[in-house]
Amino acid sequence: MAWTPSSWRQLPAKHIPEDYPDASALAAVEERLQGYPPLVFAGEARKLKARLGEVAAGKAFLLQGGDCAESFKEFHPDNIRDTFRVILQMAVVLTFGAAKPVVKVGRIAGQFGKPRSSPVEVQDGVELPSYRGDNINAMGFSPDERIPDPERLLQAYSQSAATLNLLRAFSQGGYANLANVHRWTLGFVENSPQGERYQALAAQISKALDFMEACGIAPDSVPQLEQVDFYTSHEALLLGYEEALTRVDSTSGDWYDTSAHMLWIGHRTRQLDHAHVNFCKGVHNPLGVKCGPGLEPDELLRLIETLNPEDEPGRLTLIARFGSEGVADGLPALVRAVQESGRTVVWSCDPMHGNTLKTGNGFKTRPVDRILSEVEQFVDIVSTEGAYPGGVHFEMTGQDVTECLGGAREITEADLSSRYHTHCDPRLNGEQALELAFLLAEKLQSVGEVMPQVQRAAG
Ligand code: TRP
Ligand code: MN
Repeated sequence: MAWTPSSWRQLPAKHIPEDYPDASALAAVEERLQGYPPLVFAGEARKLKARLGEVAAGKAFLLQGGDCAESFKEFHPDNIRDTFRVILQMAVVLTFGAAKPVVKVGRIAGQFGKPRSSPVEVQDGVELPSYRGDNINAMGFSPDERIPDPERLLQAYSQSAATLNLLRAFSQGGYANLANVHRWTLGFVENSPQGERYQALAAQISKALDFMEACGIAPDSVPQLEQVDFYTSHEALLLGYEEALTRVDSTSGDWYDTSAHMLWIGHRTRQLDHAHVNFCKGVHNPLGVKCGPGLEPDELLRLIETLNPEDEPGRLTLIARFGSEGVADGLPALVRAVQESGRTVVWSCDPMHGNTLKTGNGFKTRPVDRILSEVEQFVDIVSTEGAYPGGVHFEMTGQDVTECLGGAREITEADLSSRYHTHCDPRLNGEQALELAFLLAEKLQSVGEVMPQVQRAAG
């Protein structure tokens, strides 16, 4: 069967809503979207693939992060700015810790849809269809709000376009100035209850920046000091929308999904003979695959063969999400199988989705110490198997929310209700995310000392 952007429609598909009341209204919206401008240019997706190829070769590190689910309600320039700012701060710390360029990828500008564990939600004996993300239905618990509305796809598109526009402006317009970003981090270190813990590393970065400045390396002469390449990504879940934004690139003649630079296939939709894998294999964007409990090495090798038959470096990022208690059991066999196959992949760690629990007072949360523990075990396991632990994938926000337990401010179960705003999974707040970057940087430094393939001296 020859691949086309719509060939997925012939195959079984999980987590795509089938209860749109008016199929022709949905089709009409998809047709309108087909005429809208692409959000990214294929050349940018190729550039990201090349950068991820460097990650696969152990020469760079991947930082991917952002909201679990973007929402229409939280759409605000300050939120975009704050998320971007924390990602930049994390990137500086990790660039220093890994002594390697950090490839910056947001889970943003298109991350709306959510696969749900149950198609229905029951509250006080009332059963309604689950909330599936703002691009499909609304979060409010009433029958009307839970009806899928195709107009929401248009709103998601325009929010994505506006978000991306602002991110491009921030990336290129001076906001990403390295010295400024580091100054914000110094402010964080000063105010953090665990500040001493981060002081030494922050001071080393200050020294490096002062030295560069003394040598005359300044943004006027070296624009890279205040500009970053920032890429977007989301889960390729709602394939009708993805199909509508899939276009032939005029320079290469290849298909690209222009809704984002990078797309990933979720843990619940990676069946080899189903729609999501079929759609993704035909587009030339860099792809991620979530790898979690239940994924057998054989199946992973078949996924690699299907999605990256030419073994193109940077095409495939394997995102491990086992949880701090499952990673030691589940991950080694997968890394070993890929090593033995000789295939080129990026190994990244999503320490969020395997570490979700429900508190006594009914909140879905994630303990920061389990998140850290999973990342640390990931780094050890992957490097012990002789591969390169190349990246991390966080659910985070720049806002001062109280959704994950712990961190330097020791958010407790009782604190969760104070600022619990997420539309889906609990996110790290800005401080927690930056703390993790510091702790991970330390880890990468210490592993690098004993395993030179993990950290090479700069240059
Ligand atoms: N352009 C370089 C990079 O992206 C250096 C840089 C400038 C940077 N501003 C930054 C790095 C902010 C991290 C964060 O790596
Ligand atoms: Mn999530």
